Amino acid sequence: MSKIHNFSAGPAILPQEAIDASIEAIKNFSGTGLSLLEVSHRGKEFEQVMEDARNIVKELYNVPENYTVMFLQGGASTQFAMIPHNFLGKDEKAGYTNTGVWASRAIKEAKEYGNVEVLASSEAENFNYIPKNYTIPTDLKYFHITSNNTIYGTQVHEYPDCPVDMICDMSSDVFSRPIDVSKFAMIYAGAQKNMGPAGVVMVIMRNDLLEKMVRKMPTMFNYSIHANNGSMYNTPPVFAIYCSLQTLKWVKNMGGVAAMEKRNSEKAATLYAEIDRNPLFKGTCAVEDRSWMNVTFVATNPEHQDAFMSLAKKNNLSGLKGHRSVGGFRASLYNALPLESVNALVDTMKEFESSMTANA
Ligand SMILES: Cc1ncc(COP(=O)(O)O)c(C=O)c1O
Repeated sequence: MSKIHNFSAGPAILPQEAIDASIEAIKNFSGTGLSLLEVSHRGKEFEQVMEDARNIVKELYNVPENYTVMFLQGGASTQFAMIPHNFLGKDEKAGYTNTGVWASRAIKEAKEYGNVEVLASSEAENFNYIPKNYTIPTDLKYFHITSNNTIYGTQVHEYPDCPVDMICDMSSDVFSRPIDVSKFAMIYAGAQKNMGPAGVVMVIMRNDLLEKMVRKMPTMFNYSIHANNGSMYNTPPVFAIYCSLQTLKWVKNMGGVAAMEKRNSEKAATLYAEIDRNPLFKGTCAVEDRSWMNVTFVATNPEHQDAFMSLAKKNNLSGLKGHRSVGGFRASLYNALPLESVNALVDTMKEFESSMTANA
């Protein structure tokens, strides 16, 4: 079968090495002669996986000592509720930026618990830019920001100076570039884009937050229970964690997050250059806020849309359909996507241009 170039927005492309190692572990986990799927998470082999997963996160992101890494369930969407449930009292106020559907969902959940101030929003422009130069009040309990807006193709390239605890949803650009973890009180990311398969969400939390729960709550909602039990209060999603570990090992072997940044910047520059050069296509968001992870663009002539999709399919390019709220095309260039796939897309855009010129 010829190679399929996978531009899916998520679940998304994973390194072949991670998939191969996961297949092997399903057949014979860590030399036990049993499948990863049929052994206890309390056995020493899986305990080691959990430990390695925590450690590689710390190593890749240079996580300071006073932070805890957790692997939880319920996706990033559960974090939207868990954060205010743990940290936002009824009479307290949290600040949010509204940069898309996911940020809006986080805001909606927080409003169930306390007061929410939306400090900046790009909603009036269909979220096609990242708001800047807003003031973050000092009386907020915390400030929430989404680093990369998967649907709209915008990305925060410079985080604001934040006088209160900053919490970031990094679901769609985690491990894609170096970050200074100490700027954040908490980082969370659903795994299924840059980290692994669906089913696990990674949380990096500054330890003092674990003492700051504002209400009584069900055990599974309590961050300190998960932290104190090494993410093993209940049965963790063993496969998703194992596969995430293999992906992070691949990131490390490739040179870590600095190497990912270089690789991702090259891919993004290659594709945006073609979008800007080719008269048949145009980008959908503010140039300075363009995402290196999710590249959104449309056909200049909307009638060309289907024809380009057909050509893309013929050329084995998969997952390019834009989200319904933006339309057009979205090419997701997560860590594991090789430059070769971006080149295949650029060649297809050129081929489309030639065929249209020939038909004109
Ligand atoms: C930025 C961002 N946050 C949150 C989510 C929701 O993640 P989940 O489906 O894991 O709840 C997504 C899903 O695409 C996302 O892209």
